[in-house]
Amino acid sequence: AACSFRRSIASQLSKVLDLPPEKLIKSISAVPVSKKRRVADFQLSIASVTEDSSSDCLAQDLNLQAQKLAERLKCDAVVSEISTGPGTLNFTINRELLAKTVLQQVLKDGSEYGVRSELFSTVPRQKVVIEFSSPNIAKKFHIGHLRSTIVGNFIANLKVALGHEVTRINYLGDWGMQFGLLGVGFQRFGNKEKLKFSPLQHLFEVYVQINKTAEDENTKKLAKDFFRKLEEHDEQTLSLWKQFRDFSIEEYIRVYKRLGVHFDEYSGESFYQEKSQEVLKMLEDKGLLQKTIKGTGIVDLSEEKDLSTFSTVMRSDGTSLYITRDLAAAIDRMNKHSWDTMIYVTDKSQSNHFQHLFQILKLMGYDWAERCQHVSFGLVQGMKTRRGEVIFLEDVLNEVRSRMLQNMASSKTTKKIDDPVETAEKVGLAALIIQDFRGLLSSDYQFSWDRALQSRGDTGVFLQYTHARLHSLEQMHGNEQLTDVNVACLQEPDAIAVLQHLLRYDEVLYRSSQDLQPKHIVSYLLTLSHLAAVAHKTLPVKGSTPDLAQARLCLFQAARLVLANGMKLLGITPVTQM
Ligand code: ARG
Repeated sequence: AACSFRRSIASQLSKVLDLPPEKLIKSISAVPVSKKRRVADFQLSIASVTEDSSSDCLAQDLNLQAQKLAERLKCDAVVSEISTGPGTLNFTINRELLAKTVLQQVLKDGSEYGVRSELFSTVPRQKVVIEFSSPNIAKKFHIGHLRSTIVGNFIANLKVALGHEVTRINYLGDWGMQFGLLGVGFQRFGNKEKLKFSPLQHLFEVYVQINKTAEDENTKKLAKDFFRKLEEHDEQTLSLWKQFRDFSIEEYIRVYKRLGVHFDEYSGESFYQEKSQEVLKMLEDKGLLQKTIKGTGIVDLSEEKDLSTFSTVMRSDGTSLYITRDLAAAIDRMNKHSWDTMIYVTDKSQSNHFQHLFQILKLMGYDWAERCQHVSFGLVQGMKTRRGEVIFLEDVLNEVRSRMLQNMASSKTTKKIDDPVETAEKVGLAALIIQDFRGLLSSDYQFSWDRALQSRGDTGVFLQYTHARLHSLEQMHGNEQLTDVNVACLQEPDAIAVLQHLLRYDEVLYRSSQDLQPKHIVSYLLTLSHLAAVAHKTLPVKGSTPDLAQARLCLFQAARLVLANGMKLLGITPVTQM
């Protein structure tokens, strides 16, 4: 919808401004709907198209330019009014055309509404590798892993929606000295049955227990032996380790499924112990590897801007480190997938690590290092369950589900629904995701179950509630085929506000695709829900003339569709009852 309007405004402007329409399209933006309602549908900021964009270009000059331009433009079949604001040109779309075009486009494009916009037409299709979640076997699945999981899933969804080819990788912490300790622990306290039926819990417990004696000389020696045998691929040792890994992955898959998340590849640090030896060799050949007096291997990054440090890539006994394995993994992924962009999603405490990683790759001569990206996020404090500390992802999912069930049971608005447990889970997850995605990813926040689960206000519960209500409206009155409906009668301010807001969806997707921040979509969907809720009140379907009733149904159907599209991008499954 937005695109054809934008295009036709651009083509008129391009004659007057003597600029190609393609250059103008991104400068023409749909005006956000505010409380005061808005002056027009589209806006062009004069500063964005003038040659002289320096700050000393006075506001007055811009206003004058806007006025002069307005005089040279004419209304046409699409644009019914042209006005000027501070430094802007404002365009109002023909009212009948607005309703018709927007609704037609939404209902026709369905799940592709917004992404087919011309804003994306110049974006080339890419191969994207995105690595996220990446928990450590036998350790806590902490809130950072949860954030990585939902953020990574969002980015992957968005990239897929925009037509890119996406590979989702889970890079497990499945190697290192701690597996020596875990192996010894398992020999001492382990239980094969428990390992099979509840691997994450059991391995965690074993690991906690053996850690209590980790300082004993005897345990130390045994752990070292176990890990050495692993590195030497001793068959028995390796097969036990493989069970740790395989059973854990099985359980991860099951739990991720509850979140609606899947991976194309379960990789892990263990894959790269040998390849990291090759990396060390390459570093040496290129003269990048230096040895310290203690015998550790380092790469000097002091010449690199902003870093002025060195990075340790080899222990004194010649074994690899976290970063060495990451170097090997990056190179391997390039060989395997020849990706255009690779994205890592972790909390910001690993920012230095990834800076070093990318810099070393660059020094090694890989120009694709520039196409690696670290998406980092802030810390979350205070997530606790009723039972105490969160240890597993499943604890969080169970907690949010049971809290939501309780809220639903005590709420007056809850209808009798078919599957309350499943609904509670989906609504609860929406609450978690929206709470997490509302702000900038880089900011830290204090976690609160109560705030997240409020039914009013800007929460995931509210989005789900709105979706369910719009859905039941459709159920009650049936879906409308737009071809027979005259939507031109949608002229009430509350209807126009919804239409104007729908017009803006592609721009919001565009912003999120640029900075990979979900918050643009979140606040868009919250506004959409508020506008739809108001319209639902003031524009009744029942009791209206058939024409009006049908047109309004179309409007609500379009609103629900875009709401559902946006929610799915964020990783939320919209519910149809609650
Ligand atoms: N397993 C790591 C952790 O829990 C995260 C891995 C991040 N990815 C990477 N390629 N280093 O901290």
